[in-house]
Amino acid sequence: MEVTQISKKEFELFKKYIYDNTGIRLADHKATLLKTRLNKRLRELDLNSFKEYYEYLGNNQSEYTKFVNAISTNVTSFFREARQWEFLTKEIENIKARATGKKLRIWSAACSTGEEPYTIAMFLKKEMEEFNDFDIKILASDISHEALIKAKRGIYKGKDIGDLPKHHITNNFIRVGKTDDYKIDDDLVDLVMFREFNLVYGDYSLFGKTQFDLIFCRNVMIYFDNDTKQNVVQNLAKKLKKGGYLFIGHSESLMAHEGLQYVIPSIYKKI
Ligand SMILES: C[S@@+](CC[C@H](N)C(=O)[O-])C[C@H]1O[C@@H](n2cnc3c(N)ncnc32)[C@H](O)[C@@H]1O
Repeated sequence: MEVTQISKKEFELFKKYIYDNTGIRLADHKATLLKTRLNKRLRELDLNSFKEYYEYLGNNQSEYTKFVNAISTNVTSFFREARQWEFLTKEIENIKARATGKKLRIWSAACSTGEEPYTIAMFLKKEMEEFNDFDIKILASDISHEALIKAKRGIYKGKDIGDLPKHHITNNFIRVGKTDDYKIDDDLVDLVMFREFNLVYGDYSLFGKTQFDLIFCRNVMIYFDNDTKQNVVQNLAKKLKKGGYLFIGHSESLMAHEGLQYVIPSIYKKI
């Protein structure tokens, strides 16, 4: 299969386009990765160069979604960042006590293919005896349309759920016929509301006055530069309830941020 090469000049065009549209800052050594990910689109569109694809992208709005799908890294898993779930297990009574009118509002702000919001739902179902008495809503958003389609379906392969404790599999998934597909139970799916949302350029007022008890924004800010990250964190902090928690990825860190107190690595509390 012939691979179309990307020149330095072409890479710079895409680098700027990606930054201006998603906030993702591509390092120079990512040229090969970009080339690999976009070659399929060039072939599908019968284009001979990245310059042609750049022009096509500029002239065809509908290509934007496909472009974002091709460049975004959607790696995720159930119960990722084990220390955060241990922390939450210890903290759950306090979280419940702070919930106004038995309402829990949670935001999975870069939810990818859904493993994160469904983990939150499974966790709460297991850890809260009064699970059914609480009004729980999980907002799950991502920039990638394709990832959200998979998330909404809530169907995963055996290998994706294989590492989960057995009780989570038996209590929360139904095998689809005799296939290797496992569907998340509807009572958990019903807790989650999926939305396409760009953390960098999106309008945070779209979520109205909702103040969240917990916000998960994990393994996405690693792709942003410091200024972008600061802005995103500031916007998220505004949407957090006092006493609420912000969870980030374990390899990410935040600079001192007004209103957010460091708790343990990758966990911050709104004060
Ligand atoms: C590596 S995944 C992380 C998924 C999950 N939070 C986790 O930790 O397992 C990063 C996700 O961020 C999304 N993303 C990238 N840039 C974004 C942006 N500007 N706004 C919202 N989501 C974005 C990607 O589409 C991808 O699904």
